[in-house]
Amino acid sequence: MADSSSSSLPGPLPDGIVPPEVVDRTEKRWVMAMAVMLVVMMAVIIVTGITGALHPSSNVEIVDPQSIHLRGEFVESNLGTAVETDGSVTVRIVAETYAFVPHCVTVPAGAPVKFRLTSADVVHGFLLPHTNVNTMVVPGFVAEVHTSFAAPQEYLMPCHEFCGLGHHAMWAHVSVVPQERFANLSPAERTTCARH
Ligand code: CUA
Repeated sequence: MADSSSSSLPGPLPDGIVPPEVVDRTEKRWVMAMAVMLVVMMAVIIVTGITGALHPSSNVEIVDPQSIHLRGEFVESNLGTAVETDGSVTVRIVAETYAFVPHCVTVPAGAPVKFRLTSADVVHGFLLPHTNVNTMVVPGFVAEVHTSFAAPQEYLMPCHEFCGLGHHAMWAHVSVVPQERFANLSPAERTTCARH
């Protein structure tokens, strides 16, 4: 945008020197731009909050945290690693103060793995370093993450959302084993930390 005040600037300045008037004008424009962005972002948060549309971005799937232990896919007998008919693997974990249930799961390397997590109480976090697995686990919602592991590895990670006094002691353990080894494990062995 042309600015008539620029014509009143002093003559050419040495290379690299910006006239103070130009600095002032540019700063004011940036402040205005930042203020507009701030207002827009605050408006989005307020509107989505009021309309109930504010969800974790990973997966908008609602679950009743008070009944997850009683019915549905997160009952205790259904937790852990399950092999689907297409050869992929689904892992279901409940996060609660201060543990992941089950606290250790075994998955095969080289196969699609889907993690489905929910919380029984407060916000927890689930992260496997150097993978795309990094999600908040929010009560009332199912967090779903799709990934696969190229090679066998052990992942040991703490909950990464502060959830209370026992937060530092809340760990998940994901053991990635070769496909042949995984195939020989019983369903119970895939859902425990038993040595295998
Ligand atoms: Cu769970 Cu921090």
